Amino acid sequence: MSAYSFTDHRFDVVVVGAGGSGLRAALGCAAAGLRTACISKVFPTRSHTVAAQGGISASLGNMGQDDWRWHMYDTVKGSDWLGDQDAIEYLVRNAPDAVYELEHWGVPFSRTPEGKIYQRAFGGMTRNFGEAPIQRTCAAADRTGHAMLHTMYGQALSKSVEFFIEYFALDLIMDDGVCRGVSAWKLDDGSLHRFSAQTVVLATGGYGRAYFSCTSAHTCTGDGGGMALRAGLALQDMEFVQFHPTGIYGAGCLITEGARGEGGYLTNSEGERFMERYAPSVKDLAPRDMVSRAMTIEIREGRGVGPNKDHIFLHLDHLDPKVLHERLPGISETAKIFAGVDVTREPIPVLPTVHYNMGGIPTNYHGEVVTLAKGDPDAVIPGLMAVGEAACVSVHGSNRLGSNSLIDLVVFGRAVGLHCGEVLKAGARQPEVNDAWTEPHLSRFDRLRHSSGAVPTAALRLEMQRAAQEDAAVFRTGETLRSGVQRLAAVHAKRKDLKVVDRGMIWNTDLMETLEFENLIGQAIVTVEGALNRQESRGAHAREDFAERDDKTWMKHTLAWFDDASGTVRIDYRPVHSYTMTNDIAYIPPKARVY
Ligand code: FUM
Repeated sequence: MSAYSFTDHRFDVVVVGAGGSGLRAALGCAAAGLRTACISKVFPTRSHTVAAQGGISASLGNMGQDDWRWHMYDTVKGSDWLGDQDAIEYLVRNAPDAVYELEHWGVPFSRTPEGKIYQRAFGGMTRNFGEAPIQRTCAAADRTGHAMLHTMYGQALSKSVEFFIEYFALDLIMDDGVCRGVSAWKLDDGSLHRFSAQTVVLATGGYGRAYFSCTSAHTCTGDGGGMALRAGLALQDMEFVQFHPTGIYGAGCLITEGARGEGGYLTNSEGERFMERYAPSVKDLAPRDMVSRAMTIEIREGRGVGPNKDHIFLHLDHLDPKVLHERLPGISETAKIFAGVDVTREPIPVLPTVHYNMGGIPTNYHGEVVTLAKGDPDAVIPGLMAVGEAACVSVHGSNRLGSNSLIDLVVFGRAVGLHCGEVLKAGARQPEVNDAWTEPHLSRFDRLRHSSGAVPTAALRLEMQRAAQEDAAVFRTGETLRSGVQRLAAVHAKRKDLKVVDRGMIWNTDLMETLEFENLIGQAIVTVEGALNRQESRGAHAREDFAERDDKTWMKHTLAWFDDASGTVRIDYRPVHSYTMTNDIAYIPPKARVY
């Protein structure tokens, strides 16, 4: 496409995304002597990790005895037995060291009176294989992600990671099944770039913005997942979308689970602490899928609060104001601004709100992207890795435990650095980028830039978000999901009539939002199709027409490929890794998930 030209760059490793996992991966690769670029559409410290509140899980045992085996048990059970147990073992065994590493780099964790890292209770985290809640979540007040992100950005700079900031990644450069790099658009001067690398690491976060109401930043548009689908790769377990129980009613802003960890509780219109009925032993500290379902049932059965009886109250007003000030200052301010509530006196109106994608780009626990190829369910895609919420390792299975996300970012970010350090040779020869590999990137970019139809991107995005929100909610049925499939197919078809008004190349947010929408729509479609296909209830996927978990048929990972030209989805499966890395823990057989 002669109207455009690329500036070429060559690195050993290119990391796309500068959130917690991207920064940890990039600094690890750079520390291993590999020339490493990190490209990001936002300034690194504005990545969505900055919004993570309650903390990072690790069995440090600072608040009483703990054991990585208990953390493993909780994570496997929390995942509703869809998590890969080798990856879960890798996560929980490496968690304490990863937290101490952050501490040594300068993360300002809250402290116990004796100076240890403070740990709070979080949902589904228990002592002695489910006996009672445990304090395992390491916290920097309720701004843990903020503290981690700023610290790791400093560390990445000190290791000479080369940052390309406000570059929007367009597409993966693929050569016969091998990833050779990534193309990008530099937003502030309109130039186009090709980054070739021995390995590309996708650390682009989740796609929460496929939904109408979510706790995710507007930037969470699953750009890596979109690129993977366009490259002909499958995404895994996309039907599992986490609703966080406590988004502020109407605004969607997150009120950390740490609020319940510090003693907060939920009530219905009768003033009843209803979680005692649903999870008698852990109550308000049940896993998120269970709490979100319980809240939804309370509302459906007429026990919601407010004039329309359509939300629930979260009480912190019984807690010592000093505790609120020290441990929950961020959400106290958020509640004031977005709900007009003084948390020391009044309850916060809350509602389950989309928060996290358990699904993503399938990887093994080194971070290598895998697929099903020639009967091999663990076939590696050469040159491509993924990490963080963009990836599906899968340690969260069908339901992630709160605070297992921040630890996932740093443990697997570190794993990527270690693996690249082991298998790559600094400065190794790479093939010249062939223009034919990037021609489709340019034609897509140009087509979208010159879209001259009648439908603005914002209108189409809203239609997609409403369909996902209404039809793939906390509870789903075949009927709602079929409706979702149809509504999203209609949105997909209307892309032909898109209208992009700004034709410029410099800070063209109209075009950028269109590229983001393109990334979202494919993922929204595989989410709803995957949910329709999975005829059971497991973790965050609650089918009212298939209310039971069915291990015989469905204990397997969904793989979904999307053909953009026809709008069709192809589904296949990978087995769950029900084996551990070592023999240090016995295989935990599936059993009913009771709390
Ligand atoms: O509630 C929270 O602070 C969120 C934590 C998480 O999603 O891990």
